Amino acid sequence: MTEPSTRPVDDWWRSAVVYQVYPRSFSDANGDGTGDVTGIRARLPYLADLGVDAIWISPWYPSPLLDGGYDVADYRDINPMFGTLADADALIEEAHALGLRILIDLVPNHCSWEHPWFKAALAAGKGSPERDRFWFRDSLPDGRPPTNWPGAFGGPAWQQIDDGQWYLHLFDISQPDWNWDHPDVIAEFDSILRFWFDRGVDGFRIDVADSMAKDPALPDVPLHNGQPTHEKFVGHPYYDQPGVHLIHQRWRAIADEYADTPQGPRVFVAEAWLSPAERLAQYVRPHELHSAFNFDVLQCPWDAKALRDVIDHTTENLWAVGAPATWVLSNHDTIRHRTRYGRDQREALAAAGIVSTDLEIGLRRARAAALLELALPGGAYVYQGDELGLPEVEDLPEEVLDDPSWERSGHTVRGRDGCRVPMPWSGSEPPYGFGPGEGQPWLPQPADWAPLTAEAEASDPESHLALYRAALRIRREQEALGEGRMTWDEDAPAGVLSFTRDPGFRCVVNLGEQPIELPDSTEVLLSSEPLVDGRLPADASVWLQV
Ligand code: NOJ
Repeated sequence: MTEPSTRPVDDWWRSAVVYQVYPRSFSDANGDGTGDVTGIRARLPYLADLGVDAIWISPWYPSPLLDGGYDVADYRDINPMFGTLADADALIEEAHALGLRILIDLVPNHCSWEHPWFKAALAAGKGSPERDRFWFRDSLPDGRPPTNWPGAFGGPAWQQIDDGQWYLHLFDISQPDWNWDHPDVIAEFDSILRFWFDRGVDGFRIDVADSMAKDPALPDVPLHNGQPTHEKFVGHPYYDQPGVHLIHQRWRAIADEYADTPQGPRVFVAEAWLSPAERLAQYVRPHELHSAFNFDVLQCPWDAKALRDVIDHTTENLWAVGAPATWVLSNHDTIRHRTRYGRDQREALAAAGIVSTDLEIGLRRARAAALLELALPGGAYVYQGDELGLPEVEDLPEEVLDDPSWERSGHTVRGRDGCRVPMPWSGSEPPYGFGPGEGQPWLPQPADWAPLTAEAEASDPESHLALYRAALRIRREQEALGEGRMTWDEDAPAGVLSFTRDPGFRCVVNLGEQPIELPDSTEVLLSSEPLVDGRLPADASVWLQV
């Protein structure tokens, strides 16, 4: 394995632990049932105490929230439901004072249909310069939309308007795609980056970083089982087109203008669901984005060989271009990993349409996975509530479902609301301190979350939160953790992942069914489950000082 060279200290982002805040569901200071910026500010000490290095805040801009804020109406302001620009400035300042960096979300593929430029495009009519900033096209001669491209949430990716033209929206109909061949769009995003860098943000997470460039010939995509495919095949007309790299190189140059400020480098992390890692590596070459979410590990089952393959493949390919690896277990788009890991052994049942979940096994594995994730070289992401061991909420009543997938799929896909249920902070019943008083949050919280509140877990040394706090403290103290070499211990038994980080650190993960002996001459730093007669039980991890 190629080893990345030693990095200067201001390359904080290469091994940062970044905590994702989904603002709508994090903390509600004003009691309207929706999280807000003041709520995040109030929880900064909690995050500093947890021991993360940075916070990534999902979109907080003015938005009709038809896709949870990934439908941006104004890129230079804060959604009034969440607060004001002054609140954002205060948050950035307070976070920095606590040693926390702030990353925010850039949504460059599309905006909201409430964005003034889109409204102007609708009003200006066919062939207007205003429409050129988006993808407006006439029908095909037989009246069909310009291509057969599918929308990500169901239905076609084109919406017809009154004058007969169609506009492209790869996501919801409320999210028209920007035309990145247009100089106005390019200049506008340059300016948006500078606007936020000048306010002090440390970086951006780039939403669908692989989709801005489109093949101007607008070819159809192939059919799969009679339907336009969602697969991101090589040569796809709107995913992973070569043109996206020019955009990223341009943004990198802008970020680099800030490298010598006292605050240090400003950075990007790409959201690009691209496999294998060879493809993702193209986004993090020198002079492009700094890092990219590694979704291969998020999608990997709880299986030693599969995980080892993902880890090797990730590190080989990212290190080959000089980029750090990142490790992601959950986010606001995926089923929470406690629930996923409670299911992995039950694929046969799932294939038969029976999804059975063992949340106790899921919790054990989530604990073990946390120690694996935080011991690997590179950066790690923690989605809000991961540190509490929250499960997916799978029984939300249909009438509260808010994800556009629900409507766009004709009520067949429930969508992602189950991982977006507001955080439980304290108390014994909803709203669990999410907001002041007894007002209920925008999505209902389960009645049995009292043991999962931050308050309850903070006072329990065996809790999930206690495990995360201890792991993050040790990660800071251990010279071996963060970036640098990892070496597999090839003498580990089948079903066990064991690797050494220099100097003097070893992580052992038991994905098998039997307890295993631990190597001699080691001292236990932390284990996800109590050892039994000195042995590491199944579905558990341990950190050892060698
Ligand atoms: C990825 C975001 O994470 C997701 O929440 C959103 O729906 C799509 N991009 C579209 O912006």
